Amino acid sequence: MFESIAPAPADAILGLTAAFQKDPSPTKVNLGVGVYKDAAGTTPILASVKTAEGRILESAKTKSYMPIGGDPAYGKLVQDMILGEGHEAITAGRVRTAHTPGGTGALRVGADFLKKFFPNATVWISKPTWANHRGIFQAAGFKVEEYPYYDPKTKGLDFPAMRTALGQIKAGDIVLLHVCCHNPTGVDLDQAQWKEVAALGGRQGWIPFLDFAYQGLGDSVEADRQGLLAMAATCPEMLVSSSFSKNFGLYQDRTGALSLFARDAKQAEACFSNLEIVVRVNYSNPAAHGGLIVTTILSDPALKAQWRGELDAMRNRIASVRAELVRALQQSGIAQDFSFIERQKGMFSFSGLSDAQVQFLREKKAVYVVGGGRINVAGITPKNIGYLCASIREALG
Ligand SMILES: Cc1ncc(COP(=O)(O)O)c(C=O)c1O
Repeated sequence: MFESIAPAPADAILGLTAAFQKDPSPTKVNLGVGVYKDAAGTTPILASVKTAEGRILESAKTKSYMPIGGDPAYGKLVQDMILGEGHEAITAGRVRTAHTPGGTGALRVGADFLKKFFPNATVWISKPTWANHRGIFQAAGFKVEEYPYYDPKTKGLDFPAMRTALGQIKAGDIVLLHVCCHNPTGVDLDQAQWKEVAALGGRQGWIPFLDFAYQGLGDSVEADRQGLLAMAATCPEMLVSSSFSKNFGLYQDRTGALSLFARDAKQAEACFSNLEIVVRVNYSNPAAHGGLIVTTILSDPALKAQWRGELDAMRNRIASVRAELVRALQQSGIAQDFSFIERQKGMFSFSGLSDAQVQFLREKKAVYVVGGGRINVAGITPKNIGYLCASIREALG
């Protein structure tokens, strides 16, 4: 019985935070988990979120169940956010959105839905990708393969290899793409590359599954959706997972969405009814709070403007930390060129540190970096940057 069950390994990223919390070092630095930190090293609740929560508390009248797919008003606001108001898929009624527990919940609901109708499909993920992608799609029963993405030599995208691979994937397979702020590399496609990928998707007939976990943290809410718009123009059938963990700071409220695109409203309706069954047997219907916050903010122009300002501030801080890190590494006497860090987008940077250097930093310097060398740039503050650069210099030897 249960005594024969061996302990499972700790989660690669969340396990690192647990180890960090236990570390007694007074100079410890956590660049592991993907949580935004301000210059003081804290993750405060956004002021727009606080205001929205106050309003929700005042006006709430019931704790009755939510619809299986969540509040339709929330779904419409998510569609406006990911596509822009008035997009053809919205006006044609061929995109339907379910409120899910975070981006993770959206990915898993989407994976279970796809498994039901495309049981023999292979899911293609970028090499590398967020570790949970493989876990989620394997848990849904899929075979998972990788397509080339990052080139360690150039510290950029290996687009020729990616294009070749995507051009050989067969109809009915599923291709997972990060819309912006690729996790873990920070390396994104430019608009011309998106157009090529979108053309390949249309030609090959694979099903795009777009992971949109960082909208607004790359260049802007509008600029970050350009890849999605390119895909939507050539691939009438696709799935998009949204996460509001980072851009609204709603990590613990587990707020996300799954948007399903079909060829027309009738097909979208049929697919959505099947998505609802996936949700029903999983968590029945979503927890209301996070969705109410997003709905309250996005439907009030003043609150929305305040949130946009707060999102801009997060993005601008990350950009300035990237520049500061490159400068500080140079100043600490490191000969190696780290200027690529400034070209990457979003919260993460593939630092180029080897696994041995990552281990040295953790064991000797209490600097916590995810295996593979991913650092959360937002974890760098004016207080820890000097110690961090000195530690990296030692690690590089
Ligand atoms: C690429 C990517 N997708 C999805 C998620 C899941 O986000 P959530 O916390 O909303 O489940 C994350 C979170 O780190 C992520 O990095």
